[in-house]
Amino acid sequence: MILGLYLSGTGNTKHCIEKLTNLLDKNAAVLPLEDRNVIDAVKESDTIIIGYPTQFSNAPVMVRDFIKNYDIWHNKKVLCVTTMGAFSGDGAGCTARLLKKKGAVILGGLQIKMPDSVCDVKLLKKSLEVNRKIILEADKKIERVADEIMHGKYPQEGVTFISHIAGLFGQRLWFYGKTAHYSDQLKISDACMGCGLCSSICPMNNIKIENGKAVAGGKCTMCYRCISRCPQMAITLLGKKVEEQCQFTKYA
Ligand SMILES: Cc1cc2nc3c(=O)[nH]c(=O)nc-3n(C[C@H](O)[C@H](O)[C@H](O)COP(=O)(O)O)c2cc1C
Ligand code: SF4
Ligand code: SF4
Repeated sequence: MILGLYLSGTGNTKHCIEKLTNLLDKNAAVLPLEDRNVIDAVKESDTIIIGYPTQFSNAPVMVRDFIKNYDIWHNKKVLCVTTMGAFSGDGAGCTARLLKKKGAVILGGLQIKMPDSVCDVKLLKKSLEVNRKIILEADKKIERVADEIMHGKYPQEGVTFISHIAGLFGQRLWFYGKTAHYSDQLKISDACMGCGLCSSICPMNNIKIENGKAVAGGKCTMCYRCISRCPQMAITLLGKKVEEQCQFTKYA
């Protein structure tokens, strides 16, 4: 039985995992990582497609912790899928190596270019048209990969030794010092009107409403979900101002 599993901030990874899993088995379950049935679902499945956004050429903390903290992976066959805005040396390999240590059998890795979810850094913004093209290419790739998997051939993107070196030296080592402390760096401006949306959608339960205002805690996994959905554009992380909120459904 196949299970699709994902963490998705702005909807890119959700789309990719739903599409790939459904092409392989239209009756397969697809769950977000924060679903409370997720552990039982992993236990009951033999093949798992796990997806997440690449963050600085690594897997998000929430995904890494989910793999490390539960002994549910022994003998599970896993395909690791990452989505990325531009480049990921071994985004898929980052979970593949952890899963292998937990006894999983790695079927392969897939790295899919999608719109960039960082909406508070101007340099990373692309036009609607460009993002639409990126999604069309991604969809074609997923369809091709699904067809190859049906014929027994799994993609091996990001899981080879060469890609490990590319991810480590190309990005991870450079970014590590900068990103290690982002879990408590979410900024919420005075524009917040206390609507509670951010608090209700955060996969880490990292935001509380206190005295009519949102207050962030110290366990942000940098998914950009709250930042891209806040009606007041009051939340930022890497940049100082939200340029234009990102959402997969805007481009599809
Ligand atoms: C904090 C952060 C760091 C990121 N780092 C990278 C990166 O190193 N390489 C890359 O290609 N994309 C990077 N991205 C872009 C996302 O991986 C990409 O947009 C992804 O498809 C978002 O998926 P989602 O909508 O499922 O959250 C980063 C995004 C965030 C929020
Ligand atoms: S979504 Fe925005 S406006 Fe609503 S509580 Fe959160 S920060 Fe405040
Ligand atoms: S605080 Fe916002 S960016 Fe951080 S994990 Fe929660 S929803 Fe994602």
